[in-house]
Amino acid sequence: MSCEPTNMGQDWRARRSRSFGKRCAEVELRCVVYTRIHAAQVDDALLQRFVGADRDRVAFVRAHVVFRPGDKIVDAGCGTGSALEFLPPVTYFGFDPNPDYIRLAQSRYASRGRFLCGDAHSPRVRELAQGAHAFLSLGVLHHLTDIQISEIFSLARACLRPEGRFIFYKPCFSADDDLLGRIFMKLDRGGNIKTDQAWRALLSEHFSIVDEYIRRPVYWFRYTIQAVICRGPREL
Ligand SMILES: C[S@@+](CC[C@H](N)C(=O)[O-])C[C@H]1O[C@@H](n2cnc3c(N)ncnc32)[C@H](O)[C@@H]1O
Repeated sequence: MSCEPTNMGQDWRARRSRSFGKRCAEVELRCVVYTRIHAAQVDDALLQRFVGADRDRVAFVRAHVVFRPGDKIVDAGCGTGSALEFLPPVTYFGFDPNPDYIRLAQSRYASRGRFLCGDAHSPRVRELAQGAHAFLSLGVLHHLTDIQISEIFSLARACLRPEGRFIFYKPCFSADDDLLGRIFMKLDRGGNIKTDQAWRALLSEHFSIVDEYIRRPVYWFRYTIQAVICRGPREL
């Protein structure tokens, strides 16, 4: 008799401990799944490599964009400055709001260009971007809000020379995508992926000539990249 309450207490404690352990395992499993999904979304550099967009970006620039030595190139959203891996010798200025990326870019490419932590609002960015022969925006605009996108366009129109070009390259939704292509598109961190028509319409508000190249860097599913060279910045 005297032992019974103690046994009951032990049973109850054991049950509680088992159920607590089960809850912990569930939470841990949810964390692992979430972390995996989040990591898949976050590491878009890896994703871009997987879908061939990093190689295709280089191929597009080499095939369609001619830079003359000494041209002033502004890289809007330069990230870690990786465009310098495939650009010819130019006068390069990259800006990005992420200080870690800018630190990394400076440590890698300080001798090849100038980097600044900031966005289209920064007066210093505007000052350093003046007289640009070309603005690059590679894999950036679909990460921004519509307001931020129009700020980048306004900056480009204000800073480009009259013959200057705005060059952009980013994924878009197209009627030709298949289910797998859509899934990969959704894994991209970009929260503002638009259709090819929507980007074309938006660009035409800011530039008078828009040359478009639709690219499909992977052949085992349909994932669409829209690469565009815009000229004739419209008057502000
Ligand atoms: C996918 S990365 C592309 C980086 C680089 N252009 C490349 O091709 O490797 C997108 C970049 O946009 C930058 N970004 C985010 N908001 C921005 C803004 N308002 N203006 C300019 N860049 C921005 C991010 O910090 C990030 O470096």
